[in-house]
Amino acid sequence: MACRTVFMAMACLFLEGAEAWSLLRISLPSWTEHGRQACTADGRHQGWGNQRSGMMPLGSWARRGGRTIRMSGDAEIEREVWMIEKPGNLKHLQKKKDMLPPPGPDEVRVRVCAIGLNFADVFTVLGMYDAASSKENLVPGLEFSGVVEAIGDRLQNRKSAIVSRSPDGKRNVLVSSPEPSQTKEGDGQKIRVGDRVMGFSRFGSFSTHLNVGSSYIRPIPDDWTFQQGASFVVQGLTAWYGLVELGQAQAGKRVLIHSAAGGVGLFCLQICRLFDMTPVAIVGSEEKSALLAETYGLEKSQIVIRKQSPRRFKEDVIGACQLLDGKGYDVIMDSVAGKYFSPGYESLSPQGRHVLFGAASYTPRGDLGKVWWSLEFWRSIVPKFLSRPKLDVQKMIGQNKAVLGFNLIWLTDGETDPKVLGLLMDQMLQRRWNPPMVGAEFRFDEMPEALRFFKSGRSVGKVVVNVSEE
Ligand SMILES: *[C@@H]1O[C@H](CO)[C@@H](O)[C@H](O)[C@H]1NC(C)=O
Repeated sequence: MACRTVFMAMACLFLEGAEAWSLLRISLPSWTEHGRQACTADGRHQGWGNQRSGMMPLGSWARRGGRTIRMSGDAEIEREVWMIEKPGNLKHLQKKKDMLPPPGPDEVRVRVCAIGLNFADVFTVLGMYDAASSKENLVPGLEFSGVVEAIGDRLQNRKSAIVSRSPDGKRNVLVSSPEPSQTKEGDGQKIRVGDRVMGFSRFGSFSTHLNVGSSYIRPIPDDWTFQQGASFVVQGLTAWYGLVELGQAQAGKRVLIHSAAGGVGLFCLQICRLFDMTPVAIVGSEEKSALLAETYGLEKSQIVIRKQSPRRFKEDVIGACQLLDGKGYDVIMDSVAGKYFSPGYESLSPQGRHVLFGAASYTPRGDLGKVWWSLEFWRSIVPKFLSRPKLDVQKMIGQNKAVLGFNLIWLTDGETDPKVLGLLMDQMLQRRWNPPMVGAEFRFDEMPEALRFFKSGRSVGKVVVNVSEE
């Protein structure tokens, strides 16, 4: 009898574990699954991301021979990439040579100057997703900056641009350029050879050159370095989409920002300034609190240092709001969730919006190749999963509060028009932004070290990998 009970209990726990695992994967959607789709998508997603660079497995170009795709007439080039042959361990990340075909009709080829690192890169390399544990060779990397080297047919008229070096030899200067063909909103068609650009790539930016849809790149502001350019797009768009689109940014709103000293958090603080909203920043340490007070001019009363106890945390959060003469927050930007969700939700005012875009509290710390079987998984993640926040939708009506979840990846899933992302970037770039904070720089050769450092969580500000000098 006792034996049966123990067995049943273990079976239940096992099922809960399986569910926790699937939740973990859902909250970090399978980027690589989409990537794989792209590989087999036989040209259906033209102009979408860099299907021709990062996501194509090595050696697959031969298969493309029979396809009739208009190229820009430019030859293919050799490039170097960091490729993950077998996800699960940083050691499997390898530098390889690869041939990059000319850009497609709606693409440009960018010589990469700097690469920005994101958590999703770590998850990709470590094989957090089913699809990533497949044997395919994948080039990770979501954002980059660089110089446009070649432009697809549909983005130019036939006359080609003439480019020369500037007198100081430091950058390419456009001598004459063809008029761009019709310019439509959101598709970035004004891009020309020699432009300094920053962009989003649905994988593939861990490379010296890549082809990317024109909707996904934009000029780098003149006074920014390539390193700063490589630190803008992913986190900036996340903050913008969450706080402006979903949070309906408006002057006077009170905004509670989780992980305010993190990449997205710092952008949220900038957006608060741009829209004349009042932020309350949540940080993990005194150190970070001092940084925000110094660089963002926040009052001490606007900074909450996160406590272990959710009850005390809630008191602090509500206290900070009252000091601002508010009864509750109008928007919450939350990438932490877990036990800190409810204290936030409860301090939301009626008509308030709780925007969720991550679940950092579930993120395991160790090397994740075999997370499912690790002690930490059962000791830490399963209990967190079991106590995860739940909302009673019936009560939500009476409380008049909204909870909105999003993940930027859905804007680039191949079903969504790439111009949606392009339009968001255009909106963002109409504003004047402080250059993003670059915390650490590595050389292209040091990619594994860069990722290891990034994963350690010791970095403040963006971790950037230099590719070529410009
Ligand atoms: C990265 O490039 C910048 C700008 O060229 C340079 O100042 C910095 O020293 C480089 N860092 C490394 C680690 O190569």
